[in-house]
Amino acid sequence: MAAIRPTEATATWWRDAAIYQIYVRSFADGDGDGTGDLAGVRAKLPYLVELGVDALWFTPWYLSPLADGGYDVADYRVIDPAFGHLAEAEKLIAEAGQLGIRTIVDIVPNHVSDRHSWFRAALAAAPGSPERELFHFRDGRGASGEIPPNDWVSEFGGTPWTRLPDGQWYLHLFAPGQPDLNWAHPAVRQEHEDVLRFWFERGVAGVRIDSAALLAKDPALPDFTEGTDPHPYVDRDELHDIYRSWRAIADQYDGIFVGEVWLPDSERFARYLRPDELHTAFNFTFLACPWDAGLLRSAIDSTLAEHAPVGAPATWVLCNHDVTRTVTRYGREDTGFDFAAKVFGTPTDLELGTRRARAAALLSLALPGAVYLYQGEELGLPEADIPLDRIQDPMHQRSGGIDPGRDGCRVPLPWSADLPHAGFGSEAEPWLPQPASWPSYAADAQAADPGSMLSLYRTALRLRREEPGFAEPAGGTGGGRLHWLPSPPGVLTFTRSHGLICVVNLSGGPVALPDHVGMLLTSGPLDASGLLPDDTAAWLRGTR
Ligand code: GLC
Repeated sequence: MAAIRPTEATATWWRDAAIYQIYVRSFADGDGDGTGDLAGVRAKLPYLVELGVDALWFTPWYLSPLADGGYDVADYRVIDPAFGHLAEAEKLIAEAGQLGIRTIVDIVPNHVSDRHSWFRAALAAAPGSPERELFHFRDGRGASGEIPPNDWVSEFGGTPWTRLPDGQWYLHLFAPGQPDLNWAHPAVRQEHEDVLRFWFERGVAGVRIDSAALLAKDPALPDFTEGTDPHPYVDRDELHDIYRSWRAIADQYDGIFVGEVWLPDSERFARYLRPDELHTAFNFTFLACPWDAGLLRSAIDSTLAEHAPVGAPATWVLCNHDVTRTVTRYGREDTGFDFAAKVFGTPTDLELGTRRARAAALLSLALPGAVYLYQGEELGLPEADIPLDRIQDPMHQRSGGIDPGRDGCRVPLPWSADLPHAGFGSEAEPWLPQPASWPSYAADAQAADPGSMLSLYRTALRLRREEPGFAEPAGGTGGGRLHWLPSPPGVLTFTRSHGLICVVNLSGGPVALPDHVGMLLTSGPLDASGLLPDDTAAWLRGTR
C-alpha cells in the first residue's frame, strides 16, 4: 500500500473510507503490564494493513484517571503514561501514514476530568470566582441548598449534579469525574481550538467529536420538561457557530471531523453536516436498527435522504465501544440496540448471531459512504460476560447495578490461540478478564482459515477497494447512488454504480439469486440447489 502523499491531502478519502476504531487499552499490550498501549498498536500495524483499512480512529489516549475509560481527559497534550508518550504517538501517526493509513483522534469537548488543572483550580477557588465560570457551578435548591439545582438526568443515570463541601453543586452530564465545561465562556472555545491545532500539527487527518450535540447549555439551566423546545442541553443552535470555527481550522490542515451526534430528527442531524460544519457524523439509525429487512431498508433510505441535501457522505456503523457486540445483538430475540434495554443474562444464539453479523458486514461494506469497524468486529467477537467484581464501566454502578455496562465489548483482543492471555501481550492479568472461549477467536487462527470472519472482512475490504462496482460514477460524491432492485419479501437487493449487486436474505428461507454475470463473495455457502440461505448475503457482478 502506498504512503499518503501530500498531493492527496485535499482528496476526498474520507467520503468512502474504511475506518478502524482502536480502543487502545484493549487492542494489544506492548509492555506486558495488562493494558494495551501504543507500542502494541505499532507492532500490529502490518495486521491493519493486511486487513485493508484506510484510517484508524483512536478513542482518547490522553492523560486520564480513567473514570470513564479515558473519556475523562486530564490533559489533551499528554499521552497517558499507561499507553506511552507524545513522541511515540507522533511516531505511530508517521508510521501508519507511511503505510497509507491515516489517524483520527478523539476530542471530548463536553467535559474534562475532575483532575484537569482547570477543574482543580475551580475547586480550590471560591464560589463565584472566575475559575468556576469555566464550568457550571450553582447553588442548590431547598432551605439549605440540599436539592440539586435542576431536574436533569445524567446520561449514566441519576442526577448529573455533585455537591461540594462548600455547598455548591457542579454539573456533569456523565460521571461525577467528568465536569461539564461552560461553552459560553470564550476561554473554553479558545482552548479547544488550540487543542485541535495541536493534533493537526502532529499529522492527524481527522478528529472524532465526542457527545457533539451536548456542549451548549441554556445559561439558565432550567428544569427539563419533556418536549421543551429548545432542549436545555441537546442540539442547541449555538453549537453550529462553534463547529463553523472548528471547520475553518480543520480546513487549514485538510483535516476532517466525524461527530458523535445521536439525534432522532434527521433534519436537525443534517444541519451538523452543512458544508461549513462537520464532514461526517456517525449513523446511529443504522447501528440501532433491528435485523429486519423492512426496517433496515428504511434506515438506509432515510440515511441517504438526510445526507443528500447537504452533500455529506453517510457513515455505516455496526458497533463501537459503547454498544453490545454485533454477533451477540443479532443472536438475541431483540436484535435492535437500545441503551436502556441492556440487561444481564439475555438468551443469545451466537451461531445465528454470527451468521447475521457476516451478512451485515457485506451489507454495510456495500453501502455508499464511509464505514467504521470496531476492533474485534473483524474477529466476530461476542459480547463478554464480565464478573461483577471486575466491572469498571461507571454506567454499571450508576444504573444501580441493573445495566451490565459497556465492558463486555471492551475486552482485550485475542491475537494468538496458543499464547497466554490469547496473545494480548500481557504477562500480568489483562485489565478486563478474557472469556475462556477467547483463544478460539484468535487472529492468528482466523488468518489461516478461509472461512473465518477475519478472512471475510479481509476479502470484502479488498474487493471494496479494488472492484469497479464500488467506485463512484464520475463526478460522484460518495453521497448516494443506490438503486433497490425488485426482490421477494424479506430480501434486500440493491445495485451500486458499475453494476455491483448486493443481496441480503432475511426472508426466513432460501431464495434464488438475481441475474448476474459473476459471483464476488458470499457471507456463507449457497445451499445444494444454488440458493442463498436465510441470513446470508452475496456480492454479485451485475454487468461485465
Ligand atoms: C461518548 C463516548 C462514551 C463516553 C461518553 C462520555 O458517548 O462514546 O464512551 O462514555 O461519550 O464522554
